[in-house]
Amino acid sequence: MPRIMQETSKRHLYKGKTIGFVPTMGALHSGHLSLVKRAKSENDIVVVSIFVNPLQFGPGEDFEKYPRDVEKDMEKLRDVDADILFVPENKNLCPEGFATHFIIEGISDRLCGAFRPGHFSGVATVVCKLFNIVRPVRAYFGQKDFQQTVVIGRMVEDLNMDIEVVTCPTVRESDGLAMSSRNVYLRGEERTAATVLYKAISLSREMIEAGVSGPEEVKARLNEALRSERLVSEIQYAGVYDPKTLLDLNEFKRYNLVAGAIRIGGTRLIDNVLVEAVKARQ
Ligand code: PAJ
Repeated sequence: MPRIMQETSKRHLYKGKTIGFVPTMGALHSGHLSLVKRAKSENDIVVVSIFVNPLQFGPGEDFEKYPRDVEKDMEKLRDVDADILFVPENKNLCPEGFATHFIIEGISDRLCGAFRPGHFSGVATVVCKLFNIVRPVRAYFGQKDFQQTVVIGRMVEDLNMDIEVVTCPTVRESDGLAMSSRNVYLRGEERTAATVLYKAISLSREMIEAGVSGPEEVKARLNEALRSERLVSEIQYAGVYDPKTLLDLNEFKRYNLVAGAIRIGGTRLIDNVLVEAVKARQ
């Protein structure tokens, strides 16, 4: 219940404890757990939430079939010493009559937002609610969802929320595939094909680090590499972007976001890396 969680946090805050917070949708893997470990190392108390947020799923998306296994998640959280698990029910978090929604202009509409209208509004709304309930001093997010960290960072800054947003590195399978709760949807040869995204993005990184002339050349090669995998059924976007505005780059900046979103069969995959342009160019 949100009220109980709120009272628990209040008690810890009153005692001068720092609260670190890791919001999740469950089906936890090592990526999620890396955030918990980082939070443990920087705070007195770590709260993890599991809430499959209906506000951030569009019509026809996988809200119903999203993997859920709270029992298993609890075991994993015990192993990494998380202190408090908060699992609100939809009827308590978004009760009848719930009518408030955030709009974070511009950045929400780009990259993933262009293909998932309303998604980042749903993310920001629920994360703000969770922040108000948990009242963390720090909140931990994964770089894998780079745009999400930009949107949350914007919200925190715009609304003067006194919370430090910490971005943690993407945890990968041994073949490079970024861990994701949705990877369980990949069947047989789709799982092998899925490695194309990180391979193509890594190739882009190498090109930038080797001093290629500009983002256009990288983008062309990135898309070519993705198209070469027969099981890629759609390339939603793939290119080089400004990590602050998420707009296409015409020339390299100091830090460049190489990011892509593709479909392998019915499964949507995203990934990204931040690349520092070669020193000579700056
Ligand atoms: P979820 O997809 O469960 O992810 C929870 C957190 O784990 C996010 O910050 C995400 O970026 C991070 N994460 C996922 N895969 C990761 C990986 N391979 N390496 C490192 N971190 C990873 O993102 C959400 O849930 C929701 O949008 C949420 C923020 C909970 C709001 O509903």
